Amino acid sequence: MADRQVVSIEVVGEVALICIDNPPVNAGGIAVRRGLAEAVERFGGQDGIKAIGLYCAGRTFVAGADISEFGKPPQAPMMPELYDIVEACAVPLVCALHGTALGGGLELAMACHARVAVASARVGLPEIHLGLLPGAGGTQRAPRLIGIASALDLSLSGRQVAAPEALDMGLIDRIDTGAPRDMALQAAQDVVAGILKTRRTRDLQTAPDDDAIATALAQVRKKSPLLVSPVRCIEAIAAATGPFEAGMKVERAAFLECLATDQSKGMIHAFFGERAVGNIPEKTAMARDIAQVGVIGGGTMGSGIATSALMSGLSVTLVEVTQEALARGVSTITSNLEGAVNRGKMTAAARDAAVARLNPVTGLEGLAEADLVIEAVFEDMAVKKEIFGKLDTFCKPGAILASNTSYLDINEIAASTRRPADVLGLHFFSPAHIMRLLEVVVGAQTAPEVVATGFALARQMKKVAVRAGVCDGFIGNRILAHYSKVAAYLVLDGASPTQVDTALETFGFAMGPHKVGDLAGLDIGWMTRKRKAATRSPDERYGGDVADRICENGWFGCKTGQGYYVYDTGSIEPNPEVSKIIEAVRVEKGIQIRAFDDQEIVERYMTAMICEAVRVLEDGIARRPVDIDVVFLMGYGFPRFRGGPLHYADTIGAAELVKRVETYAAEDAHFWQVPAMLRRMADTGGRFGDLNKRG
Ligand code: CAA
Repeated sequence: MADRQVVSIEVVGEVALICIDNPPVNAGGIAVRRGLAEAVERFGGQDGIKAIGLYCAGRTFVAGADISEFGKPPQAPMMPELYDIVEACAVPLVCALHGTALGGGLELAMACHARVAVASARVGLPEIHLGLLPGAGGTQRAPRLIGIASALDLSLSGRQVAAPEALDMGLIDRIDTGAPRDMALQAAQDVVAGILKTRRTRDLQTAPDDDAIATALAQVRKKSPLLVSPVRCIEAIAAATGPFEAGMKVERAAFLECLATDQSKGMIHAFFGERAVGNIPEKTAMARDIAQVGVIGGGTMGSGIATSALMSGLSVTLVEVTQEALARGVSTITSNLEGAVNRGKMTAAARDAAVARLNPVTGLEGLAEADLVIEAVFEDMAVKKEIFGKLDTFCKPGAILASNTSYLDINEIAASTRRPADVLGLHFFSPAHIMRLLEVVVGAQTAPEVVATGFALARQMKKVAVRAGVCDGFIGNRILAHYSKVAAYLVLDGASPTQVDTALETFGFAMGPHKVGDLAGLDIGWMTRKRKAATRSPDERYGGDVADRICENGWFGCKTGQGYYVYDTGSIEPNPEVSKIIEAVRVEKGIQIRAFDDQEIVERYMTAMICEAVRVLEDGIARRPVDIDVVFLMGYGFPRFRGGPLHYADTIGAAELVKRVETYAAEDAHFWQVPAMLRRMADTGGRFGDLNKRG
């Protein structure tokens, strides 16, 4: 018996309609699969039914397989066999697409005998982002409809294609207008009238395209050499030139192989993690309305934040001290917006409207009407306190006062106002108009609706917000400050910066820590080390000598042409002068160097990262492991296929991590300490994943 709530049926004259209604995104879970199989089998053999129209209720056509079922025992019918039933249906079956027909949703559409869509519909095969490949016939049906090259493009990029492009490709047959049910009915009636042609996709031939296959293989080996699924996807698509059933066997084996990998588990964790971080204690609080945003500071960060706010439709008042600084800020914002137009992120008309919403001023008085003010001046507590004290007098009641500080104490900043409940940290990542992470730093007195507004702002800016508590560096920079020391110790003790970078890049980081330092500017770390010098424990091994000396030479990385590496147009080489500095420091400190292999480099680095992440959890700075994972995935180039530091920690196991820390502690018992939570987990067999269940 079909589940009437999830799949419903209706007969209109000679046409039958099938409606899938499985909110929020009509994912193809077991109830949908069973209901659809039953409905198709029923109408496929029913006298008087000459065509079937399939559509979805709600905001979208089927957006894919139900990802939450992955890894659980399979329940029949599985998608491939269901789609065979759909395709084999004796009565012509046409589907009407709206919203996003993705993955198993597009694969369902391709198994139908014709496809119509509204112009706003988008289709795609995004399984690659989950460490998978299309696993319900997509690798076999897409090439038959659109050719090998386009099928490779869709499934390796995972991009969403708008209906007009899908029509040009041959992926859909017609663009229609109207509600999904009306479109499905009309399309089915057009099939009966002979106006809309139907055919079975499996009966089409795929022309071989060896060049496209070879090019795709070369590209994925270069771009993502560690990932399994892109290569398997190409192999499955290559099999589409042969018999359909044989190709399906190749696809099935490849899909199951990928589904079993840690890579797909990591990427699926990342998918759900990006959504889970929005589940905060303040989620029921009413966010305040934000239309006018004030940004104080027109430097790189302030301009990036202003750009992001303008791009999301908000009005921005930009405050700088002098006309010159203001002009520089405006110029950065306009060139950021120009870049967004060039990247296809906004139209020229939207850019013009955004520029018109920018109001540059030279005094804080200009912020009287702002609903939310984001301070983005340099990192000096005295300066910030002075600004917040003034905001207290200039800003209207109910205005939210935020600081973009990356490590300073939000409670101390809040105390410089008479409205600490309206103060919070909004820590953007540079470049702020591109990076999607936002740490929402909640002070001791921050009101729940102020937190909720921070999250609402992130959504409006298409960013992912993670809730963080107050400490030096919050979630991300606190953990970074700890594990960065390992990179320095490894270099002092015998590794080269290039070896450390290469080992971590091979592990999957986009860039090793020395390259990141060069890119961010080595002066930033230098300033931090100087700031912390007074509070550094005498037991701490100081690892900053090499970096300090590089900076003393005025070499701050990319922006000065050299740092750990020397940068010339398009080329990057290890800096020979840095080797001399390292050698000198080792001699001065009497360090006996030794060889490190890449595995040990990765193990030490990752163990330090995980230990500090655990302490961040223990201290309540992050509420759940997944919050830390998402911060690192979205803000620190952590390899997505490893799911984030604490998801990765579960793949190693707490007992092994404790063993490593105890081994390293023999050299440096101050740095290498086992966090209490990790030891408890090692004793009880606990996992970080289990701690994510809390809301
Ligand atoms: N399975 C299970 N749950 C899903 C889901 C899926 N395929 N897609 C979305 N959801 C859930 C989300 O987790 C979220 O749940 P919560 O509200 O509990 O957090 C809810 O649906 C809404 O999702 P979004 O917040 O992402 O909503 P959105 O409107 O911003 O985006 C979307 C909608 C574009 C469909 C986006 O959710 C998306 O990209 N989904 C994944 C699509 C995908 O990857 N499909 C392929 C699946 S794998 C597959 O199909 C394998 C195969 O070949 C057989």
